[in-house]
Amino acid sequence: MTEQKRQECARILKQEEISEGIFSLWIESAQIARDARPGQFAALYCKDRSRLLPRPISICEADPDGNRIRLVYRVAGAGTAEFSALGAGDTLEITGPLGNGYPSEEVSRNDGSALLIGGGIGIPPMLELAKRMHCEKTIVLGYRDHIFMADAFSAYGPVYIATEDGSCGSRGNVMDCIRENGLRGDRIFACGPTPMLRSLQAYAREHAIPCWLSLEQRMACGIGACLACICHTTETDEHSGVKNARICVEGPVFNATQIELKG
Ligand SMILES: Cc1cc2nc3c(=O)[nH]c(=O)nc-3n(C[C@H](O)[C@H](O)[C@H](O)COP(=O)(O)OP(=O)(O)OC[C@H]3O[C@@H](n4cnc5c(N)ncnc54)[C@H](O)[C@@H]3O)c2cc1C
Ligand code: FES
Repeated sequence: MTEQKRQECARILKQEEISEGIFSLWIESAQIARDARPGQFAALYCKDRSRLLPRPISICEADPDGNRIRLVYRVAGAGTAEFSALGAGDTLEITGPLGNGYPSEEVSRNDGSALLIGGGIGIPPMLELAKRMHCEKTIVLGYRDHIFMADAFSAYGPVYIATEDGSCGSRGNVMDCIRENGLRGDRIFACGPTPMLRSLQAYAREHAIPCWLSLEQRMACGIGACLACICHTTETDEHSGVKNARICVEGPVFNATQIELKG
């Protein structure tokens, strides 16, 4: 049974634009800050009721001592544009934490090494993961052009950067960066666009490396009711009898061996 999360009216503590069109938002929520695990997300509701569906945004940081969470998002359309106009003291309807997050038993391991890989707007959720993991970590961040948040990761391990135009770090994508620098890890944790996840899935399979991928597919209800967010799985789901999983409930994090990332 899926636990229903309460919608709360949360106060905005701070919002700033940290790069072109990328916003960092601190929200007061004791409950989400206390319960959030790395890789989970929050559903944000628009005040403009012509946009009924909540917008899923990953939890970038959870600060239970300060009763606050941080979300970092790119303005993609009308909903995120509305959020970007909010400032300290404004309120926002929010539900969370939602989804499964990265497996707790993997996050808490302190043996071996991990590659933490974020691409584009998949970078923010890797920060809370980097903070919570105590094994040796190497962080790989892929950008189209503008760099954001890279400094925040340097406290948790060596950071390698890839940019499509080669303006910073390796030219190309995160796979080019991994190969160019001979980066290794016993386990892989990643979040980013589907082509990036697909190439990491192939790399992990080729080298028999356990790998967890967080998918950012479009969602509608965000609570498992509408099936708008399904992805294809390798195993048949015992309830539905089909090879599908709902990203909002069974995901967004999946073991790379359990999903098929179609083009
Ligand atoms: C689990 C999850 C976590 C996410 N975490 C983050 C995050 O931390 N930061 C962040 O910036 N974004 C994140 N997203 C994407 C974010 O939810 C969408 O960008 C947002 O809902 C767009 O809303 P909008 O009203 O501004 O744009 P809309 O008007 O709804 O759409 C504008 C454009 O964005 C595209 N779009 C909408 N949703 C997505 C999506 N899920 N993936 C790719 N393209 C999309 C649409 O196709 C359209 O072209 C996440 C998505 C999921 C499913
Ligand atoms: S968004 Fe409705 S089931 Fe996932």
